[in-house]
Amino acid sequence: MKVAIITGGGSGLGAVYLKTIRKRYPELDEYWIIDIQEDKMKEVSGNDPKIRPVLMNLSEDDSYVYLNKLLEDNNADIRILINNAGVETVASFEEAPERKLVNTVRVNSEAVMRIDKTCIPFMREGSSIIHTASIYAFSPVPGDAVYAASKAFVRSLSLALHEELKEKGINVMVLSPGGMNTAMDRSDLRKKSLLSMPFLDMEKVANGALDQAEKGKASYVPTLYYRLYTLFCKLFPSSFTARIIGSNYKK
Ligand SMILES: NC(=O)c1ccc[n+]([C@@H]2O[C@H](COP(=O)([O-])OP(=O)(O)OC[C@H]3O[C@@H](n4cnc5c(N)ncnc54)[C@H](OP(=O)(O)O)[C@@H]3O)[C@@H](O)[C@H]2O)c1
Repeated sequence: MKVAIITGGGSGLGAVYLKTIRKRYPELDEYWIIDIQEDKMKEVSGNDPKIRPVLMNLSEDDSYVYLNKLLEDNNADIRILINNAGVETVASFEEAPERKLVNTVRVNSEAVMRIDKTCIPFMREGSSIIHTASIYAFSPVPGDAVYAASKAFVRSLSLALHEELKEKGINVMVLSPGGMNTAMDRSDLRKKSLLSMPFLDMEKVANGALDQAEKGKASYVPTLYYRLYTLFCKLFPSSFTARIIGSNYKK
């Protein structure tokens, strides 16, 4: 069975990916969305018989055993994997509750790696993986330290797997978006930000990412504005960019 899999498909960018992929690749047999809340998945699925909500907590070990069995039972041939679910706690390291920081590492970093590890055996030539990182993958961010570190992990993993999986004809690409208006509330950040970072159009982000992945690209940062942000992060030492970016978070 030819499938697309989208983690975090119940809301935000994941739900937009679902709509976009459903329209763009109508030949697939099923579109699986993985998320932690059933009602949200039902809402985005509508009555589409080809969309399969897969209820999973990506922070739990058992989830991966369950997903592996589901893939085996359905003789899955994963054509597109959107490894996208994420969480964020914007707070200073000292103020952020430890359990939230642990969950950030589990969902944003560990789960991305484990989803890849579970899904890659069900992928073959011509298939593609897109990881959702963030522009915060490019520099440490005081005030959002663990989130930024978790996204740096995703970027590094993606670029390495891009090279490793080339031989098999599987393309791995990292998408690094800037701000998007989703349940992951960035409004507080925008108020604090010196540059008042603009929200991205999520349909353009999803289509742009799929276009770039089809071309075999390793990395995609949507819009010139955010590409300049990442250029700034690449041109200067991380200790300097961290100080400048972190100053946006000071009360
Ligand atoms: N929004 C931005 O400004 C922005 C910027 C750059 C990058 N990103 C990245 O874009 C991706 C999508 O985020 P979004 O903005 O679309 O946020 P979102 O609307 O909150 O979507 C994330 C989805 O992941 C789900 N999820 C969280 N923990 C999970 C778990 N343990 N198991 C299964 N599903 C889980 C969430 O469920 P719940 O809602 O129930 O937690 C939610 O449906 C994330 O990786 C995020 O880091 C976002």
